[in-house]
Amino acid sequence: MHTTPRKIRVPDLVLMKERGERIVMLTAYDATMARLFDRAGVDLLLVGDSLGNVILGLDTTIPVTLDAMIHHTRAVTRGTNRALVVADMPFLTYQVSPEQAMQNAARLFQEGGAAAVKLEGGSPVAKTVRRLTQAGLPVMGHLGLTPQYVHQLGGMRQQARNDEAAQELIADALALEDAGAFALVLEAVPDAVAELVTSRLKIPTIGIGAGPHCDGQVLVSYDLLGLFDKFVPPFVKQYAQLGQHIHDAVSHYADDVREGLFPVPTAVRRAHAPPVLGIPSRRTAHDTTPFLLFLILFFLLIVSFGHSFISNFTPITPVALPSFFGCDSAPAI
Ligand code: KIV
Repeated sequence: MHTTPRKIRVPDLVLMKERGERIVMLTAYDATMARLFDRAGVDLLLVGDSLGNVILGLDTTIPVTLDAMIHHTRAVTRGTNRALVVADMPFLTYQVSPEQAMQNAARLFQEGGAAAVKLEGGSPVAKTVRRLTQAGLPVMGHLGLTPQYVHQLGGMRQQARNDEAAQELIADALALEDAGAFALVLEAVPDAVAELVTSRLKIPTIGIGAGPHCDGQVLVSYDLLGLFDKFVPPFVKQYAQLGQHIHDAVSHYADDVREGLFPVPTAVRRAHAPPVLGIPSRRTAHDTTPFLLFLILFFLLIVSFGHSFISNFTPITPVALPSFFGCDSAPAI
C-alpha cells in the first residue's frame, strides 16, 4: 500500500481527509517501537496516557503524570522520522485553566519534542483548545469514551447511545473544530454516530471502537500486537501474538540457563565468531591455514613445471609427438 515517504505535518491531515486517504494512528511509548511503527508507515504516533495501563501497570490513566508523559514522548520522538508525534495531556494538566494548559503543553513540545497534543473533552475544554491553537500549539480532540473521566462516566462503556447524547457529541465535535482542533479521536461510539460526526466535520475523525466510517483508525499498539492480555477490548484485532512469542523465547532462555546450555563455552563461541579487533578467531586461523598451504604448494608446482617445460621446449610436430610423450620406437640402448 502506498504511503507518502515524506514527513507528516499537521496540515496534511485535513488534506488526507479531502483526498479520502485513511489515516493510520497507533500508540507508542518508547524509541524502539516508535522506530518500527514509523518504518511500517504509521502516519501518527500517539504517546497515549494509556501508558498508565500498558506500561506502568495502572488500572486507569488518572495517575499518569506530566513528567512521565514528557519522558516517554522524548523517547518516541527520538525513534521517529516520518510520523507526526502527538502526546496526550494527562488528567488535570489542562482542566484547571487555559494558562495551566499552556504551560503544561509547552513542556510536551519543548522537552518532549511533540508536534501536537491531545486532550479529552468537548465544549468545556473548547476555550483551552482555542488558547493553545492560537498560540501555535496544534491540538487533537478526544470525544466519546474519555478514559480520564472514567469515574464520571461510570465505567469504560460505549457513549452517545441515545439521540440526546449523540446530539451533544456532535455539538462538542463542532465546538472543538471551531476552537481550532486539527483532528478528533472518537472512542467507543456507535458506528452511525461516528459516521454522522465524520460527515459534519472538515477535520478528520480517528476512530477507536467507533466503526469503519471515520477518516482514520487508532489502536493501542500493545493490543494490536497481542502484548497486553489483562483485557482485550472487543473491537481490537490482534495482528500478532507477541506476548506468546516473548513467553516462549524467555522460557527457552530460562531452561538453557538452568541446564547449563547458555552461555556456550567461550572457546566454542569464539570458534564461530568473526575476527574481533583484528584478532583472528580460532575458526579463521584453523579453516584458512590448510587452504593457504595448498595454494602455496600449487603455486610452487606450477612454477617448477613451467620452468622445466620452457627449458626442454621442442616444437611439437606430428613426427615429434611420440617422443614428446616419451613413447618413440627407438630401441633403448
Ligand atoms: O491513551 C490512549 O492510548 C488513547 C487512545 C486510546 C486513543 O487516548
